[in-house]
Amino acid sequence: MNLVVMGAQWGDEGKGKIVDYLASEAETVIRFSGGANAGHTIVTNGVTYKLHLVPSGIIDKNKICLMGSAMVIDPEGLFNELDNLSNQGIDWKGRLFVSDRAHLVLPSYKQIDIEMDKKRKSPIGTTGRGIGVAYSQKASRDGFRVCDIFDEQMYSRLEDEDKVFLEKFKARLEPMVVNAAYFMAQRKGQKNLFEGAQGALLDLDGGTYPFVSSGFSCSAGAAIGGSVGPASLDKILGVFKAYQTRVGNGPFPSAFTKEKDGDLENTIREIGNEYGVTTGRPRKCGYLDLVALKYVCLTNSLSSLVLTHIDVYDGIDEVKACVAYDINGKITEEFPSTVSDLEAAKPVTKTFKGWNTSITGAKSYADLPKETQEYLEFIEEYTGTKISIISVGPDRDQTFNVDEPWTK
Ligand code: GDP
Ligand code: IMO
Ligand code: MG
Repeated sequence: MNLVVMGAQWGDEGKGKIVDYLASEAETVIRFSGGANAGHTIVTNGVTYKLHLVPSGIIDKNKICLMGSAMVIDPEGLFNELDNLSNQGIDWKGRLFVSDRAHLVLPSYKQIDIEMDKKRKSPIGTTGRGIGVAYSQKASRDGFRVCDIFDEQMYSRLEDEDKVFLEKFKARLEPMVVNAAYFMAQRKGQKNLFEGAQGALLDLDGGTYPFVSSGFSCSAGAAIGGSVGPASLDKILGVFKAYQTRVGNGPFPSAFTKEKDGDLENTIREIGNEYGVTTGRPRKCGYLDLVALKYVCLTNSLSSLVLTHIDVYDGIDEVKACVAYDINGKITEEFPSTVSDLEAAKPVTKTFKGWNTSITGAKSYADLPKETQEYLEFIEEYTGTKISIISVGPDRDQTFNVDEPWTK
């Protein structure tokens, strides 16, 4: 069975945590998109792990992990991350594989990324990890892939400084490299878990272009980056927070404002620890944007939703969600394509009663207060999509199923 976990907002929804939770039943975990722009956090047995490139399944010592074909990999970042994992007692050797078709982030890309963003009239606020440069090189057919390191003809075309850089990693990388198409074909019928990075609203096509990343973080990206056909994806889970966050620039219609919401943004940021894992930047926070979430459900064929961070609202008297946009006086439930419309959009909100009690120990849907259930039921009704897993805190144990995830 092929089960996809993807972000249904602007990233940082808790994908890493959910992948780690679901990995206990999986055989293989495949990270299908992005690069070291991602920051996935896993908390278990009091230990926190922060991953950027390595699939979140690596924390479970029995899992096989694959870094997929549509990833862009900085080998220096990868081996630093692996050394950190070794220092934290995670033995990854012999369990981590890399697609030979994945592209590499070469040393000059990061500086170019930073300089290009500075020159933009409206900077995107990239993570400076060379992601856009690597994907541009790939699209213009000037990229350099993992398999090219071992191909004399391709290797000879590199600049000397890139050769010097890659020589440091070649021998360590070689035993990890596989032809992902056949690696995945051998795993047909097994439980394969596909891990997305970023989120649907940062997807190059479906996201809030140009304020997006450069990879395919949508569900279709799982097939592309996971080296399987789209028809083989059995279930697609979209992870979303009980509220909305965004790091970097770009439109955010449901953002909290000082005038309307007072200090709510700071409160949520501090309770939810809303600081970027990769860059440490504070994340902007806002009401759950149901217009955007419904659009994501539609365009990604989500089988169900995974709700995280609902505990962050524990002490809040009133919970609001954005149910429509007012764009220059016109009320709409459609997610617009242009930045101008998204910037003009004022959130139309619906208010829910808060629950004012801690739910961080909840083990089932029945444990949730009536008020929390009402909020969740409205989300399901609005999006037409069921919530199948609920997370009530950062720890692996603070998660429960509403539906069985590993059945078709
Ligand atoms: P990812 O990029 O989607 O994997 O998410 P990040 O790791 O960037 O950000 C999610 C943050 O929220 C991490 O610090 C997690 O430990 C934490 N987290 C995950 N799920 C929950 C939850 O249900 N409640 C709370 N309070 N924190 C959570
Ligand atoms: P995870 O996997 C949140 C954002 C950046 C910037 C834009 C483009 O942890 O959810 P890039 O460096 O990719 O060219 O930056 O995308 N961004 C993320 N925001 N979570 C992420 O990943 C992100 N990866 C990129 O902040 O706005
Ligand atoms: Mg993150």
